[in-house]
Amino acid sequence: MRHKALVQRSILISLLALPFCALHAQSPSLAATPPMGWNSWNHFAGKVSDADVRAAADAIVASGMRDAGYIYVNIDDTWEGQRDAQGNIQTNSKFPDMKALADYVHSKGLKLGIYSSPGPKTCAGYEGSYGHEQQDADTYAKWGIDYLKYDLCSYGKMMKQQAPGDPQKQWQMMHQAYDKMHRALLHTHRPIVYSLCQYGWDAVWKWGPQVGGNLWRTTGDISDNYDRMSLIGFSQAGLARYAAPGHWNDPDMLEVGNGKMTPDEYRTHMSLWAILAAPLLAGNDLSKMDETTRSILMNKEVIAVDQDSLGKQGDRLSAAGPYEVWTKPLKDGALAIALFNRSEAVYPITVDLSSLGLSGATHARDLWAHKDVGPLQNSYTAVVPRHGVVLLRVSR
Ligand code: GLA
Repeated sequence: MRHKALVQRSILISLLALPFCALHAQSPSLAATPPMGWNSWNHFAGKVSDADVRAAADAIVASGMRDAGYIYVNIDDTWEGQRDAQGNIQTNSKFPDMKALADYVHSKGLKLGIYSSPGPKTCAGYEGSYGHEQQDADTYAKWGIDYLKYDLCSYGKMMKQQAPGDPQKQWQMMHQAYDKMHRALLHTHRPIVYSLCQYGWDAVWKWGPQVGGNLWRTTGDISDNYDRMSLIGFSQAGLARYAAPGHWNDPDMLEVGNGKMTPDEYRTHMSLWAILAAPLLAGNDLSKMDETTRSILMNKEVIAVDQDSLGKQGDRLSAAGPYEVWTKPLKDGALAIALFNRSEAVYPITVDLSSLGLSGATHARDLWAHKDVGPLQNSYTAVVPRHGVVLLRVSR
């Protein structure tokens, strides 16, 4: 009798606790700072395999990247196989055992990310989650997945087919599709970072948090060249107020180390992403990194700007033609100041410190030269290389 009463009481307590669990599944510690890690797409694209992901996990640890904060190892598109008779998603032959892969990645103190689409097909034409949202979320949780990138792809076509000529209805369908997977993830009770990928359509930064997005792509795809990277990065001006702990603007993954930009251009890429409090997801082959790539991806002083716990995205302060100054406020009252030279020739760029209340600042450090440069006067001038940057951290 007593046992029955106890069982009934514990059932009641768990029922009462349910809504709380649901709320707490999306815990405030999830993506409290912009997610850091690696993603397979920019380098491996459709060729990525289990062995590549294991090699990336090994290299993240051996290189020191894990200890610098790069925790998520994310498999992008092309891991998917067919569904079984019950509709459960299977991996394809490149990924023989996802659970074993997750165990391996976890054993290294890392987390594993995966990729899907709200549509029937992913962008590379593999199986998407349409009509199987909860089933897929449950499968991910069973495998031990910690991060999901959910890429619109074929769902965009469905929106147009189902609501032709009615963009409002189409956007509504899109919000609902992202919300549906958010609820499915919450229902698993596993903390899974939720990354929205729909190229910034319908100003996603305005509704991303409401559908549970921890980060959302703000643009189309990056590629490994200065024009595309800088077009994307510098177009982020004005979005700062939409970022906060748990919710980040995502101007796409890093191309550092993929070989088609100069070291100055990659330093611009890394600095701009840090000023933007952007997710830092390396996109290169980590098992073949040269010293320059390491020094850029693992500049701890630059990473600290990105990961600053205040969680404020930076913004453009001024632009005089191709010479731009961007700033980002930091937790301890300091300011990160980036002087970008987008022109084709070396140029001296000046920042007016008096207007920032920083005249006579005693603490000033050049984060790429790893040198103190203070105390400062009313302004600071740095000679900045073509397509390059000088990144400072300044406080009074
Ligand atoms: C889209 C995304 C990319 C990548 C590919 C995979 O283009 O924007 O980041 O995930 O799909 O097919």
